Amino acid sequence: MSVSEKILQWYNPHKRGLPWRNTRDPYKIWVSEIMLQQTRAAAAVPYYERFIERYPTVEALAESDEDELLKLWQGLGYYSRAKNLRKAAMRVAKEGMPKDAKTLETLPGIGAYTAGAVASIAYGEPVAAIDGNLLRIFSRLYAVEARIDETAGKKEIAALAAAEIPETAPGDFNQALMDLGSEICTPKRPRCLACPLHADCIAFREGRQEEFPHKKPKKGKTREQYLALAIRHNGAYLVEKRTEGLLSSLWGFPLLPGRWKKEDVEKYLAERAIVAKEIRFGTRYEHVFTHKIWEITVVVATAEAVFTEAEEHTWADVDALREKYAIPSAFRPVLEEIYGLD
Ligand code: ADE
Repeated sequence: MSVSEKILQWYNPHKRGLPWRNTRDPYKIWVSEIMLQQTRAAAAVPYYERFIERYPTVEALAESDEDELLKLWQGLGYYSRAKNLRKAAMRVAKEGMPKDAKTLETLPGIGAYTAGAVASIAYGEPVAAIDGNLLRIFSRLYAVEARIDETAGKKEIAALAAAEIPETAPGDFNQALMDLGSEICTPKRPRCLACPLHADCIAFREGRQEEFPHKKPKKGKTREQYLALAIRHNGAYLVEKRTEGLLSSLWGFPLLPGRWKKEDVEKYLAERAIVAKEIRFGTRYEHVFTHKIWEITVVVATAEAVFTEAEEHTWADVDALREKYAIPSAFRPVLEEIYGLD
């Protein structure tokens, strides 16, 4: 039996029951693949179900309100995915859904991997969906020495995968690799004896499965320090819509760069004509992004009088913070601190 036959035969009895696997609707498969770009399947399921209920068609998504969409996305992270999905939906609603991987890739938010996944699953196009799972599995199967995060290694594996992709059921083939990668051929301690490919796997035969895939040595993440300022006035808190950088177009508390002492915070507030009754330093926490770590100190300042209010700011009470505004998880500990006070 060939490698691809073994993969397909393994898939049927072992596949994970996931809601986007019960549809052939290209729109729904597209939505699921966008969510799954940076989110594990189990975590994506409830978001996917809510999303499809609220926006059952591409037309519904094209007409969506961005703030409402971001609220629905809250907690999934990488919000540019939602913004791009909405933009792409506007185009698709007008021009129709692209039906092959090459054209799918012209839509915002769709790269080679997602294009391959959608085209193979929804349209049966025999293209690979090359993600970390596929790269890891194939690097072990063929003991690929090249680094998978460099062009040469990617190309080598793309050619190996292209040679295996079946004309029938390419979508099942790709999804089988996702399941193998998440359940069996895991980065650490792969369960090789449960793997349908172990007799074919060179790394396994040589006992080197944990040595692959080869990668470039990692660069450290940059660290940035901030003070997250929760200004409380008449039972409400100042939140602003972020206009740039990470998490832009989401709501958050003012984030002031650098390390702050109490006197600095007093001065900052006084300069903005905010009369602070109490300034309390709260928790310190870290929020980890792909390339960055934010070290955040929470300060709650209770203000007696606030004379200025910039345009993109609003005052939100606890209910509005919970229900109305899409506040990313980078601010979760600030919210916890606030909820603890009320
Ligand atoms: N990860 C990315 N796409 C997926 C899919 N269709 N099923 C499960 N996990 C995935």
